[in-house]
Amino acid sequence: MMTGLLHTHSLLRYFILIMLVLVIVTSILGLVNKKPYGVWDNKFSLYLLIFTHLQLIVGLILYFTSDVVQFNSGTMKNAELRYWTVEHIFGMLLAVTLITVARISSKKLTSDQAKHKRMFLMNGAALVLILSIIYMSGRGIL
Ligand code: HEM
Ligand code: HEM
Repeated sequence: MMTGLLHTHSLLRYFILIMLVLVIVTSILGLVNKKPYGVWDNKFSLYLLIFTHLQLIVGLILYFTSDVVQFNSGTMKNAELRYWTVEHIFGMLLAVTLITVARISSKKLTSDQAKHKRMFLMNGAALVLILSIIYMSGRGIL
C-alpha cells in the first residue's frame, strides 16, 4: 500500500510538470498573440489543479506513514529527515497554494490579458519552486 502510494506520488509529479509547462506556454502565447482566455486555457488549468490536489492528498497520507518523516530530537540534524519532515512539505504546500490561487484569482479578473499574465506569473513561480524542491531531495530531478 505504501509503496503503491509512493509510486503514485512519484508518477503524479510528471503529470503536474507537464500541465504546468502547458499552462505556462499557452499563457505566454496568449499574452504575445493577444488571444482571448479560451476553453482550452480553462481546461489545462483545471487538469493542473486536479493533479495538484490529488498529489496533495497522496502526499499528506505519505507524510503520516513514511519512515523518513520523524519528529524527534535528531530530525533537524539529519539532512534527509529534515528534508522530508520540514522542507518538502513546506515548499510543496507553497507551490500547491500558488497553483490554486492562480486559478481562483484569475477567474475574478475581467481582462483576458490579465488572466494570461496571472497564470503565467504564479504558475511560473510554482514550476521553479517545485523543480528546486525536487532537486533538493537528492533523489534526482526527474
Ligand atoms: C487536502 C485536500 C484538498 C484541499 C485542501 C483542497 C483545496 C481546494 C481549494 C482551496 C479549492 C478552491 C475552491 C474555490 O474555488 O474557491 C479547491 C478546488 C478544487 N479542488 Fe481541491 N482540495 C483538496 C483535494 C482535492 C482532490 C483530492 C481533488 C480531486 C481529485 C480536488 C479537486 C478540486 C477541483 C476540481 C476544484 C475546483 C476547480 C475549479 O473549478 O476551479 N481537490 N480545492
Ligand atoms: C506539487 C507537489 C509535490 C510534488 C511535485 C512532490 C514530489 C515528490 C517526489 C518527486 C518525491 C520522491 C518520490 C520517490 O522517491 O519516488 C516525493 C516524496 C514524498 N512527498 Fe512529495 N511532492 C509534492 C507534494 C507533497 C506534499 C504536499 C506532501 C505532504 C503533505 C508530500 C510528502 C511527501 C513524502 C512524505 C514523500 C516521501 C517519503 C518517502 O520516501 O517515504 N509531498 N514527493
